[in-house]
Amino acid sequence: MKVLAIIGSPKGKGNSYNVTKQVEEKMKDIDDVTFEYLFLKDADLQMCRGCFACVIKGENFCPIKDERAEIEEKMLKSDGIIFVSPCYCQNVSALMKNFIDRFSYVFHRPRFFNQKAMVLATTGGAGLKETLDYLSKLEVWGFGPVVQLGAICPPWPASEGLKIKNNKKTAGSAEEFYKKLKGKKLPSPRFNQYMHFRFMKMSSEMKEYLPADNEFYKDKKDFFYPVKINPFKKWFASFMIKFALFMMKDMGPAEAK
Ligand SMILES: Cc1cc2nc3c(=O)[nH]c(=O)nc-3n(C[C@H](O)[C@H](O)[C@H](O)COP(=O)(O)O)c2cc1C
Repeated sequence: MKVLAIIGSPKGKGNSYNVTKQVEEKMKDIDDVTFEYLFLKDADLQMCRGCFACVIKGENFCPIKDERAEIEEKMLKSDGIIFVSPCYCQNVSALMKNFIDRFSYVFHRPRFFNQKAMVLATTGGAGLKETLDYLSKLEVWGFGPVVQLGAICPPWPASEGLKIKNNKKTAGSAEEFYKKLKGKKLPSPRFNQYMHFRFMKMSSEMKEYLPADNEFYKDKKDFFYPVKINPFKKWFASFMIKFALFMMKDMGPAEAK
């Protein structure tokens, strides 16, 4: 079982790395798991230039030639991925944000269905929930529900109580992640994943505006991968979409004159 930990701290081996190492140790106590670390501070992953070509035309049209595609390959070859970030000003670090921006096409065209994810954040005291909530949005990249782990690492020696608390959380999340990795592959999607599929497929019908999405979704029927969808879930999703379309009625393209 192979786990890739993507470290978003500019310090590299700081608090967030140390907590990830503890996750590694706990998982290795359970089973034979291999860990690989990708330090974003050392990766050749340049800043997103905002052209939106990856989303609209396709990721191969990204004008930046760096390690982005190799990193995606690495992720696809792993069984589990841990997205690790310190909390900076109530959210992820700039390195982690840029990493997510560079993969923004994956929100449109998910692909990590054979992988499970954990999101891990550390903070001096505040902003853990905001950081973990943001990182958890990566579930729509295909992972499904992610395991969350947040640890408080204050800028002074941690009390015994905090050490025990962090240790307990780390052990619990490591076990939960291990169980997820051993769990069912390609499960039936949860409602929000299914809604994500329905919305993306619907918007991909605007071929002239979203050609890469159109190509990606044109042969997909019920979900990203073949799986039976409960008819009630389908009906309820259609109802919710009608409601959302009404609420978002000004968001579509202007009528051609
Ligand atoms: C630029 C910057 C912003 C930070 N913002 C916050 C914050 O909003 N809330 C907080 O509790 N800690 C904050 N911290 C503290 C870090 O979240 C904390 O020390 C974290 O464990 C660092 O992880 P690292 O050693 O892996 O980089 C900040 C630290 C830096 C350098």
